[in-house]
Amino acid sequence: MKCWNRSIYTIFNRKPLEQINSQTMNIFNKALILSISLLTIVSCQKKKLNEELYEAAKATDLQFYKNKDTLYSGAGGSPHGSFKLKFNSTAVSSLGADGKLPVGAEFSNGSVIVKEVYSGGELTFYVVMKKDSESKFQGENWVWGEYKPNGDVAYSVSDKGNSCISCHSAGVSRDLTRSFDLH
Ligand code: HEC
Repeated sequence: MKCWNRSIYTIFNRKPLEQINSQTMNIFNKALILSISLLTIVSCQKKKLNEELYEAAKATDLQFYKNKDTLYSGAGGSPHGSFKLKFNSTAVSSLGADGKLPVGAEFSNGSVIVKEVYSGGELTFYVVMKKDSESKFQGENWVWGEYKPNGDVAYSVSDKGNSCISCHSAGVSRDLTRSFDLH
């Protein structure tokens, strides 16, 4: 018996070579199936969370910033353009009497902030931040996403806010939000 054959023979508990091969293949196949399943699960979770954020952005019971349906112009180097700003009830509960988040305060988990971006009078994007410190897709405790009105994903939760966070960390400390200092 050749040396390498013998080592394999010893390593695998003295099983005949044919059996080793089929056993190794078996492990390999299982590992492959496991990795594909894991990838599929993560991609399904991502799709589900994007859908949830899009639905949350379209919800009809959101409250306008300062209780007024106002179209604001982007300020502070904002890339978002003209917009309307809305909050779900969890987010509203963290706001002060002036409609703003007090400096140094934080939104609680489940808070949703929606920026409806308008261009030429048409709604073009829902830009969303959802507070969820437990989410595997969170970046700085927020989940970040952008959606077209038909639900197409323009910026996925899976990027974990990498394109958003540096700009949203600038300025006064209001839990990564920017509007309260600018509008
Ligand atoms: C270059 C800076 C910049 C980047 C990058 C940026 N934002 Fe913003 N964002 C702003 C500013 C400034 C505001 C305040 C409102 C305004 O004037 O547009 C804002 C407001 C918002 C709001 C309303 C809540 C708040 O913070 O006031 C949401 C939601 C939002 N951005 C989401 C995002 C998402 C999601 C991304 C990444 C895909 C992103 N932003 C990237 C600058 C930025």
